[in-house]
Amino acid sequence: MIAAALMTAEGMMKFHIENFGCQMNEHDTEKMASLLAGEGMEQVEDAKNADVVIVNTCCIREKAEQKFYSLMGRLRAVKRKKGTIIGVTGCIAQMEKENILERLPFIDFSLGPSNIHKVKEAVDRALRNGPFLDFSENGCNGALLVRPGYGQGTVKAYVTIMKGCNNFCSYCVVPYVRGREASRDSCDVLQEIAALGDKGVKEVTLLGQNVNSYNNTRDDISFPELLRKINGINGIERVRFVTSHPRDLSPELIGCFGRLDKLCEHIHLPFQSGSDKVLNLMNRGYSSDEYIAKVKTLKDRCNDIAITADCIVGFPGEDEEDFRKTMDLIEDIRFDGIFSFVFSPRRFTRASTLPGEVPRAAALERLHHLQKTQREITLAKNKAMEGKRTEVLTEDISKNSKEELAGRTRTNKIVNFHGPHTMMNRLVEVTIVKGYANSLKGTEPKLKEVQVC
Ligand code: SAH
Ligand code: SF4
Ligand code: F3S
Repeated sequence: MIAAALMTAEGMMKFHIENFGCQMNEHDTEKMASLLAGEGMEQVEDAKNADVVIVNTCCIREKAEQKFYSLMGRLRAVKRKKGTIIGVTGCIAQMEKENILERLPFIDFSLGPSNIHKVKEAVDRALRNGPFLDFSENGCNGALLVRPGYGQGTVKAYVTIMKGCNNFCSYCVVPYVRGREASRDSCDVLQEIAALGDKGVKEVTLLGQNVNSYNNTRDDISFPELLRKINGINGIERVRFVTSHPRDLSPELIGCFGRLDKLCEHIHLPFQSGSDKVLNLMNRGYSSDEYIAKVKTLKDRCNDIAITADCIVGFPGEDEEDFRKTMDLIEDIRFDGIFSFVFSPRRFTRASTLPGEVPRAAALERLHHLQKTQREITLAKNKAMEGKRTEVLTEDISKNSKEELAGRTRTNKIVNFHGPHTMMNRLVEVTIVKGYANSLKGTEPKLKEVQVC
């Protein structure tokens, strides 16, 4: 019924999905793509060649919204020319709900993150009855949806273990657009990962806004227990997870690093600020000393662990002294990388009403100073890798040269190296010959022997 409606005179309809935002969104995009491909629709690279264009949106900062609205301006012109069906999904959709039609009257459907599983129906209904909207947060949950074909032919896969967030950090819009925290049954998660292992997937990344609180409020296994079980799954060689909240990083979870052989030596642990005053205003639930102590324990337990983080500058009330504390923390910990942002006031959030706005010029100056210092630290850390032998999972052709392959170390660093295409999607070993600010250069790879128990 739906499939018939998705035909054009030239055959099955073509679709294109534009993705913004975090890994959760990337994974939702993959889910929608596989649902439409499952109906026989063909995915195309260029929106201009598509019959249906979906934009999966993010509203974490104002810049993400601006990018979306300028893209919509371009898509409106494409629609005028070709009559393309246009859908908006994800976090801006959920934030705007029905109002989205006032701002973008030309769109054909809009779905919140919990309704992305209705994408086929949305296209079909848009073709027949005009705009289709769904922002309900109950019922079947799109974010937890599993697709049978997922993982075929790929070496890395995402696995959603929970959705939503209950933390209400005062600057953050996520709890308002992704709803309350809900964990997936561990049996479903383990079954999905076992099926991925059977399909040849070697690396899984467990996804959730705050994976450390997996199953905190229900009667199922804890996150460390889940990691232990995943560690025993055949075929899977590497396990990662994002994102961790420092408050919920328990000693038991810290103890998993260095002990579970498949758990990669990398943790993304956003600190947001080095000032306790600002952390308090942010409602983060830990002090800078507690953060530093947890990182030190992580490093003690697992010598080679790479630590990356997120950080916000220019939060309301942040003065030069607060910023100095952030810089002190950065220089003390020496992160492998930091994603840093200027505070962006977001609708619904408490921080958007706080006094003490930091002038944009001052916030940008702080950001540039922070980023310069961090670039130097990252470069020094990457240079320290020179001469070391390391495991890489090859996953792509290098962005630098078609002659080179690219992959990631267990510490999540990108390595480019010359090597035959037969080494693609394999676990290999290389020696690092050069460390740059954003990547490493390796020697010709050797296949890594994987022990089969
Ligand atoms: N759930 C994750 C990631 C949330 S969004 C976590 O808690 O770590 C990713 C990052 O965006 C955040 O860690 C924060 O550094 C940044 N961010 C979120 N809201 C922001 C805002 N209003 N302004 C600037 N940066 C923000
Ligand atoms: Fe946002 Fe905080 Fe939840 Fe992360 S933990 S998604 S920053 S509210
Ligand atoms: Fe953006 Fe939504 Fe992710 S706001 S960061 S896409 S949860």
